[in-house]
Amino acid sequence: MPTQYTSATAPGALPLLGHTPALLRRPLAFVAGLPAHGDLVRLRLGPRDAYVACHPELVRRLLAEDHLLDRGGPGPGAGPAGGAGPAGCPAAAHRRRRRLLQPAFHHDRLPGYAALMAEEIAGTTARWRVGDVVDVPAAMHRLTTAATARCLFAAHDRAGSPAVHDSVDVVTRGTGRRVTLPLPGADRLPTPGNRRLRRARRDLSELTGRLVAGHRATGADHHDLLSGLLDARDEDGRGLTDAEVHDQVATFLLTGTETTAATLAWAWSLLARHPAVRERLHTELDTVLDGRPARYEDLPALPLTARVVSETLRLYPPVWILSRTVTTDADLGGLHVPAGATVLFSPYLLHRRADLFRRPDRFDPDRWLTTARPSPGTYAPFGLGARRCLGDAFGTTEAVLAIATIAARWSVTPTPGRTVRPGRGPSLSPRPYTATLARRAR
Ligand code: HEM
Repeated sequence: MPTQYTSATAPGALPLLGHTPALLRRPLAFVAGLPAHGDLVRLRLGPRDAYVACHPELVRRLLAEDHLLDRGGPGPGAGPAGGAGPAGCPAAAHRRRRRLLQPAFHHDRLPGYAALMAEEIAGTTARWRVGDVVDVPAAMHRLTTAATARCLFAAHDRAGSPAVHDSVDVVTRGTGRRVTLPLPGADRLPTPGNRRLRRARRDLSELTGRLVAGHRATGADHHDLLSGLLDARDEDGRGLTDAEVHDQVATFLLTGTETTAATLAWAWSLLARHPAVRERLHTELDTVLDGRPARYEDLPALPLTARVVSETLRLYPPVWILSRTVTTDADLGGLHVPAGATVLFSPYLLHRRADLFRRPDRFDPDRWLTTARPSPGTYAPFGLGARRCLGDAFGTTEAVLAIATIAARWSVTPTPGRTVRPGRGPSLSPRPYTATLARRAR
């Protein structure tokens, strides 16, 4: 690792508590201000130190070093899916697991997934009524839950889908809350919420078990994520065990729903605040779709919709901070970092650097006309390196199809007088906010 980077300790540490109060009070603003102090900035979090990599090249290099910087570390940096699946694996096991997951996300399978997503998005929005006032983040969560569950379990009898969606919704929300508020033993308390969560986990596990057994018996490819998982083999010809498949299903449900739902919820609030962009989006959709739901084949004709998604992910990357643990004493950018230290990376910080993005706080989808390929390390909503998101194309396809299908027919008008603000959960989702649904005149 070269030593041309600057390093410093962030100012303003309090005795004993260090930077923890500042990080808790205004996490986004605090982290976005760190590049002013150096390329690698040391924070004091109570008795522990953590190092935040602020320079894009340093971020890119460090995230490529998965043997030096392994998975782990406290706080929201646990990433989109803490425990199960590849996201929670130590480096030694991660490589095999990732290799076994890759075929399920091969680009050849995407058109099939997109067809299932498109059906679910059209079906969910067909149940909306003019004048409904909806909680936008919750409605987007239901939408992405329905789409992800369908792509996982295409073979499932659709008559039972609402029950499956309810279970997935309870599991993703319940697990998300427990990541945010990790009170020891709280999971085991006999509260109604815990009982619901346990029942939903059991129902999903039984469904997964039934579908896995059915697939193993017939070998049929249902062109869904589950078939992709079950068909994968490592170099020794071994596939995922049933327990690993269950883990994976849980990971996809957690990573696949919350992140894409947050992107959509932010996009509606940004479009509401930028009527000129919204008008141009409507023109694109009216020309291409004329009010019908969007399909995979429409994607090349929807470039502005895609830029709206890229720009939303730049301003509000759902996984806004990632953490790793240093496995051995190391020289990171010229600063000695001891084994066991936490290193933090923040896509949010990178995306808000004025030297990387002109007027970084501005919502400007057209910046992507000239920045089609940002230099490595500057734009990282899906992470970088050995653990980069496997569902990036899946998630962006879903987001583009959802925005196109909804905005082609509906106007989603946030209730006036309320500023949409980030919530306090582990992912960068907006707090609940309401909007009225109306038919859009074309
Ligand atoms: C807008 C949507 C999404 C965003 C912003 C996002 C973001 C991320 C990020 C930042 C990581 C890297 C975490 C780390 O380095 O520690 C990640 C990993 C991962 N994501 Fe996504 N994700 C999205 C959608 C999805 C979807 C839809 C799926 C699956 C259906 C998915 C599956 C995964 C998996 C399996 C990993 C772990 C990869 C590994 O460790 O090898 N993601 N995601």
